[in-house]
Formats: sequence, structure tokens, C-alpha cells
Amino acid sequence: MIIAIDGPAASGKGTIARRLARHFQLPHLDTGLLYRATARVMLDHGQRLEDADRAVAAARGLALTDFDEERLRGAQMGEAASIVAAIPQVRAVLLDLQRRFASRPEGAVLDGRDIGTVICPDAPVKLFVTASPETRAQRRALELRSRGEDVDYADVLSDIRRRDERDSARSSAPLVAAPDAVLLDTSELDIEGAVRAAVAIAERAKATSA
Ligand code: CDP
Repeated sequence: MIIAIDGPAASGKGTIARRLARHFQLPHLDTGLLYRATARVMLDHGQRLEDADRAVAAARGLALTDFDEERLRGAQMGEAASIVAAIPQVRAVLLDLQRRFASRPEGAVLDGRDIGTVICPDAPVKLFVTASPETRAQRRALELRSRGEDVDYADVLSDIRRRDERDSARSSAPLVAAPDAVLLDTSELDIEGAVRAAVAIAERAKATSA
């Protein structure tokens, strides 16, 4: 079974994806890491993030096993990732990698921005996880502070708004809910509440698609 989870930054989709993967005993791919890692390689080589040829080369060189999550999770990398993610050729390179991951016989959980719309349009379970920008900024500020980053709430909120705008406005695979995705607004839910709701949705979808 493939579970596709999409949503904007800090909506809770990553936590929900990890917990669903554990619940259904499926492998999980956080696809944002692919874009973050592509941007990381480019920054490490002093390249411009808008340089499509270099971005494609960086994306081609990625292996799913060599992600240093600690280095990729910072605020600066989220912003950089959304710049390379707007390059259609980069998305084309990463599409194959994601589809290969999703084609395991047992299925998989993938979370990102375009899983239900582009990567796995036939997934039997699709979730679109949202929350208000203010709630997401609060969560992200807490998360970044717990990682030792000295961030300001107002800056995090404006970063989130800018990324929402860039991710939604791009022409290639914009952030949008698939027509058949179930919407899960986590603004008023804590982690356990959001996970419970997601498991219930996935169990229902699994039962009807069986
Ligand atoms: O955790 P957060 O949502 O902040 O970031 P992420 O999921 O790691 O994604 C970082 C950036 O990568 C996003 O702002 C998107 O621009 C891009 N991305 C994408 O375009 N498509 C995906 N499937 C996943 C991420």
C-alpha cells in the first residue's frame, strides 16, 4: 500500500508520515530531503541555486543513503531547497528516484508537496496536511530552537509565507491538494491527535480500496 502525504512547511506531515510508516510497517521517504540535499551539494560547491544544469548534476549524484539529516534540517536549507525545487529538470531527475522507492512490493509512505498529484497519483491513501501559517511558524520556531538555532518567530513566519508562495506559484508540480486527497487540518491538534486522525483516515481508505 502506498500512502501519499503532502502539505506545506511545518504542517506536521513529516511526523504523521513517520508514525503512519511505523503503524503500517512500511518504509518511509521524506522527499523534502532530496531537494534539501540537492541544494546542500550546490552550496558546498559555491554554485548558484538557480543554475539548472548544476542543480540537475547535483540531483543526479544523490543516493538515498547519504543524507546527513542534521545538516539538512536547518532553516536556511528549507529556503534553498524551495529554490532548486522550482527547477522542472531537477524534479524530473528526482521523480524516478521517488517512484523507484514507491514501487517496493510492500508499498511505502512518502511525504512531500507533489506525492499525491505527480509522484504517486494512484496511491490508495492520500492525505493533505495543513495548519495555519501562524501555527506552523510556532512549531517550526520551537523545532529550530531545539536544534540550537537562534531564530525569531517573525522571521520564521515570513520564511514560511515566502516558501508557501514559491511552492504554490511554481509551474512545475505546485503545492496543491490532489482532488481525491483527504484534508487534515492540524491547527487545533497536538501530535497524538493528528496521528490518530491520520491513522483513522488511512485505515478507512485501505479498507475501501481493498
Ligand atoms: O519540513 P518542510 O516542509 O519545511 O520542508 P521539506 O518538506 O523538507 O521541503 C523543503 C522544500 O523542498 C519545500 O519548500 C519545497 O519547495 C521542496 N519540496 C518539493 O518541492 N517537493 C517535495 N516533494 C518535497 C519538498
